[in-house]
Amino acid sequence: MRAPDPARPLTVLGIESSCDDTASAVIRHVPPARPEILSSVVWGQTDLHARFGGVVPEIAARAHAEKLDLAVEAALAQAGVSLSELDALAVTAGPGLIGGVLSGVMLARGLAAATGLPLLGVNHLAGHALTPRLTEAVAFPYLMLLVSGGHCQFLQVDGPEQFTRLGGTIDDAPGEAFDKVAKLLGLAQPGGPAVEAEAKTGDPTRFALPRPLLDRPGCDLSFSGLKTAVLRARDALVADHGGLRARDRADLCAAFQAAVTEVLVVKSRRALAQYMASAPQSPVFAVAGGVAANQSLRAGLLAAAEDAGAAFNAPPLALCTDNAAMIAWAGIEQMRAGVALQQFAARPRWPLDQSAAPLIGSGKKGAKA
Ligand code: KG4
Ligand code: ZN
Repeated sequence: MRAPDPARPLTVLGIESSCDDTASAVIRHVPPARPEILSSVVWGQTDLHARFGGVVPEIAARAHAEKLDLAVEAALAQAGVSLSELDALAVTAGPGLIGGVLSGVMLARGLAAATGLPLLGVNHLAGHALTPRLTEAVAFPYLMLLVSGGHCQFLQVDGPEQFTRLGGTIDDAPGEAFDKVAKLLGLAQPGGPAVEAEAKTGDPTRFALPRPLLDRPGCDLSFSGLKTAVLRARDALVADHGGLRARDRADLCAAFQAAVTEVLVVKSRRALAQYMASAPQSPVFAVAGGVAANQSLRAGLLAAAEDAGAAFNAPPLALCTDNAAMIAWAGIEQMRAGVALQQFAARPRWPLDQSAAPLIGSGKKGAKA
């Protein structure tokens, strides 16, 4: 264990390649000032995977391997920082698609060997979970809901390395469900924004969709049955009048969005009750992940936080979705906490809370954790 040094100025380069974004960023933190994101380069691969209807791991890995060094160069150039001005390197070491994770880890190892800089292996989920502290002065412990195309879990964040999972999805992630529903209804990808736009003019009460797992105690969630229910409703409509009318599509989207929102909000209330029972001094309920862009969900989560007496925190969208600034920041948090530099391996699965029972299911974007 190194001695924690809360005041030392730190400049760290982050590298992220665990899914379909090739990313690098530089963060400088000179306490007591807030950390500064000097650069954050995110190169998506949506076009490469579009015609396959999901992320193809081999294509993702090759694209990362081809572009990562350029992303690092761009991040350093935009930050106006040279390698010799860095204090450390931080790279996503998992969980995620293993080929992509390996691309990042190998590049980072090469850079560390060439420069002699310390190298930190960061858990991608820890990156998401620590983001509220990058953008605002949020104190531990806080409650975090991670909702994206690949992840869905409630985490109580007690410290840079201390996480308690209060619940998570047992099958699909909500973003995955939005994407699949969009596909079923002939809407564009990514499905979330398309479904949300349709839902605006729809009637959420016309189709009675299930509320999976609401009848069970606890904070676990399930979304795959909801998607199947939309499929059945669509097929019944097509059998009835030979196709989908604009009204049907809007109503189905509204019903689906209402079901996802209700399930997530009710489970959030339960997670908040557990979290508040630990009597946090400055309670905060934070949300991250692409699905957090959904306005109806956001309104529901905000209300749940307010009712529980917690402040609501949603980082700007560019920091909610995959990026390398969160990886650099998690590296800084680890250094400040005096976490020892460890040998690490690239890992496809890497649950943050090692004591929690493993969740089944692994989505189109790889292992859930
Ligand atoms: O965090 P993210 O960019 O990537 C990972 O999954 O890692 O999240 C992308 C997911 C996609 O499934 C997308 O459909 C969903 O977030 N999403 C939304 C909205 N915007 C993006 N889901 C619902 N409503 C939205 N407005
Ligand atoms: Zn992510």
